[in-house]
Amino acid sequence: MSNTWFESVAEAQRRAQKRLPSSVYGALLAGSEKGITYADNMAAFGEIGLAPHVVGHHSPRDLSTTVMGIPIALPVLISPTGVQAVHPDGEVAVAQASANRGTIMGLSSFASKPVEDVTAANPNTFFQVYWSGTRDAMIQRMDRARSAGAKGLIATLDWSFSHGRDWGSPSIPERMDLKTMVRFAPNVVTRPSWLWSFAKSGRIPDLTAPNLTPPGGEAPTFFGAYFEWMQTPPPTWEDVAWLRDEWGGPFMLKGVSRVDDARRAADIGVDALSVSNHGGNNLDATPASVRMLPSIADAVGDQVEVLLDGGIRRGSDVAKALALGARAVMIGRAYLWGLAANGQAGVENVLDVLRNGLDSAVLGLGHASINDLNRGDLDLREGFERTLGMTSTVR
Ligand SMILES: Cc1cc2nc3c(=O)[nH]c(=O)nc-3n(C[C@H](O)[C@H](O)[C@H](O)COP(=O)(O)O)c2cc1C
Repeated sequence: MSNTWFESVAEAQRRAQKRLPSSVYGALLAGSEKGITYADNMAAFGEIGLAPHVVGHHSPRDLSTTVMGIPIALPVLISPTGVQAVHPDGEVAVAQASANRGTIMGLSSFASKPVEDVTAANPNTFFQVYWSGTRDAMIQRMDRARSAGAKGLIATLDWSFSHGRDWGSPSIPERMDLKTMVRFAPNVVTRPSWLWSFAKSGRIPDLTAPNLTPPGGEAPTFFGAYFEWMQTPPPTWEDVAWLRDEWGGPFMLKGVSRVDDARRAADIGVDALSVSNHGGNNLDATPASVRMLPSIADAVGDQVEVLLDGGIRRGSDVAKALALGARAVMIGRAYLWGLAANGQAGVENVLDVLRNGLDSAVLGLGHASINDLNRGDLDLREGFERTLGMTSTVR
């Protein structure tokens, strides 16, 4: 049997590219327009240097923390993604892997698996919602997630429906059935192992959103759900406060870029926020999230748990984000590559790669715990940071 273990996220991505049909791989790579933000998310981490010690290292090192009251073994959470068609076990495999590695699963409302199956695999699941549909529909989805045991809500509010990509968008069918599979055949037959994994499971990729099913109704198609979301008038801060109150438990706002928005979020009482540009899939030319992190952590870090997502590909990236004020990070593509490369074991492999890399960084930087990481550990060039929305506060 061939060795399925990989030593870096880059290798997982190479394997994912080999294994997935090009349309599925392209949908995961995503990035909007010119891909400036997508590229900057990763490039920015490359600009941050580390300042290691030679003697005075600690053993063992503590990598554990809590996020919104939940203890986790490493400061890396699964960021919600609509994992359609990557792997037959989809989000259940990701949930099981994150449970096995002691961390939190973020489940997208556009996910391909029901929330009940995901919380059964990882009781520490946060359910993610967009502002979509009527208030009654939103209440019903939150009630369902709460009954399933979800322990937190992630409200993702940065999406601006920007669709064009300079390198072309993959065409994705409305519903995957056998007829569509045949239509997509040229794209798919060159990837027999991907096809085989679905064939073995007796399923074909199901492009519906089961967590958006209305009571007594059928799961909407992915595009039907997307259309509803596009038609929904965008929320005000009062609406966000309403969402927070309706959920009534730990609440994270995902997608914050600006200091004034972070302050508003703190004012309405969110428990956590994620500094994020949706992995560069959203408004292109938004700076890398790690460039925006220090100003936001300085502004609200004493009131709100500040997380970061975007561009995390190695353990030292996690160390850099924590040194700049993040409590923890969330990963998107890194685990999607692992899932595509090797299912649940591939996601565990990615979490191990990040854990080992973070542990090496904490060792080299001379700390006993991730709590001791600080800006003095970094070689930060002038002009690295971007501070957005420092002056305007009225919206
Ligand atoms: C294919 C794909 C689908 C995504 N779907 C969602 C989603 O449904 N909900 C959400 O809040 N964020 C979604 N995101 C954004 C991720 O949660 C996260 O912000 C982003 O992937 C982080 O950047 P990274 O991929 O560089 O780690 C998606 C990202 C990707 C790549």
